[in-house]
Amino acid sequence: MKYNIEQLNAYCKRYGFVYQGSEIYGGLANTWDYGPLGVSLKNNLKQFWWKRFVSQNKYNVGLDSSILLNPKTWEATGHVSGFKDPLMDCKSCKARHRADNLIASATKGKVDADGWDYQKMYDYIIENKIKCPNCGGFDYTEIREFNLMFKTSQGVTADSNNEIYLRPETAQGIFLNFKNVVRTSRKKVPFGIGQVGKSFRNEITPGNFVFRTREFEQMELEFFCVPGTEMEWFKYWKDYAKEFLTELGLKPENLEFYDHPQAKLSFYSNATTDVLYRFPWGFDELWGIASRTDYDLKQHQNYSGENLEYLDPNTNETYLPYVIEPSLGVERLFLAVLLDNLEDETLENGEVRTLLKINKELAPYQVAVLPLVKKFHNDKAEEVYDLLMKNFIASFDDAGNIGRRYRRQDAIGTPYCITIDNDTLVDDTVTVRERDSMEQVRVKITDLKVYLNNQFE
Ligand code: GAP
Repeated sequence: MKYNIEQLNAYCKRYGFVYQGSEIYGGLANTWDYGPLGVSLKNNLKQFWWKRFVSQNKYNVGLDSSILLNPKTWEATGHVSGFKDPLMDCKSCKARHRADNLIASATKGKVDADGWDYQKMYDYIIENKIKCPNCGGFDYTEIREFNLMFKTSQGVTADSNNEIYLRPETAQGIFLNFKNVVRTSRKKVPFGIGQVGKSFRNEITPGNFVFRTREFEQMELEFFCVPGTEMEWFKYWKDYAKEFLTELGLKPENLEFYDHPQAKLSFYSNATTDVLYRFPWGFDELWGIASRTDYDLKQHQNYSGENLEYLDPNTNETYLPYVIEPSLGVERLFLAVLLDNLEDETLENGEVRTLLKINKELAPYQVAVLPLVKKFHNDKAEEVYDLLMKNFIASFDDAGNIGRRYRRQDAIGTPYCITIDNDTLVDDTVTVRERDSMEQVRVKITDLKVYLNNQFE
């Protein structure tokens, strides 16, 4: 059985992956807190990305820039004037809608209103009698512009001079530091700067669990290359993304690469591809890969007055590098990885077990230490746990019968369970049970670290 989004939400809550945010106060809509297993999976995903895109990639280096940037940044990029959605309220039930989304869902995606002016969208909705998906009503406000950036104020007075924004993407912190990195890292074009961090967007229609939220994390790479070579690099990073997702364990049949038609590209982009994943509601964006020309560096150069040109030591030419940007949301990857790997498996004896058949490198716990009978085996099990936790993400569970404990570890994706029993007390060996095959082998405690390391290689 494959999980739908409600079942996945219930699973996440039950096992401690994700909780409703601010639950004891009745919650705060569309905010989510990551529990012990969720934070571990998220960290593993970020580490996996960081390894492949930063530490194990010869071209790239890393960065961690501020969430709060000089507000001129967002004037330069066009976010202040252009990062907005067409907002429309249903007067009957007060639900808020994005007008372009209303049209897209009413026409099952056949009419794409992206790029239409607001009057055209409004007229289309009225002429085609598109009803409120929430209450079925047909009584809307006019369409208003709604900027998606979260505003706050810095310092002691809350006047408009002190207004700043929470960043809506991590990318701009990278562009602002382009010169610093060139000066200090000895990197030469082509090279990239990767960053992982929180972004904030006051989305009109958050939803589908953690798919669209107002606070989320991005893993972004800005890759700087010689103008004219950007299409080669665009292909390189698309292929790299595909390999990354396959290595991560997503099934190829659940992935699609959608190349934006030329006529629909953002004005600063000369190629854009969305990597789509087959979510329960259909294929939807997981990862955006864009060739952004020199737009961002040029804008920051103009607005800051700082020369951001690069002096190419090979040719002695100066130029603004072109940029390829693969930008991936952590929570969307988190969702895709769980949906792709979670199943209810029927065993030969007819029993059903919930199994998270996740890539071993991503599992929230790598090993679980289980004393067979608490009364007799706990002391030895704690010794083994202390030994393993220094090298592996380990958990300890002594509650309930051993069969149930195995099932729980299967359900949360733990690749290896280590069981301590009477034989352990005699010969210092333990049972190691593998998650997918459920096969068991006997290993000496002194060999356990090497044995497990080999399994994770
Ligand atoms: N710097 C480019 C950029 O931010 P984007 O397509 O707006 O591009 C990139 O966002 C990725 O960030 C998306 O493909 C998605 O994975 C993630 N993302 C964007 N908005 C999100 C939201 N409201 N909630 C969760 N993830 C989001």
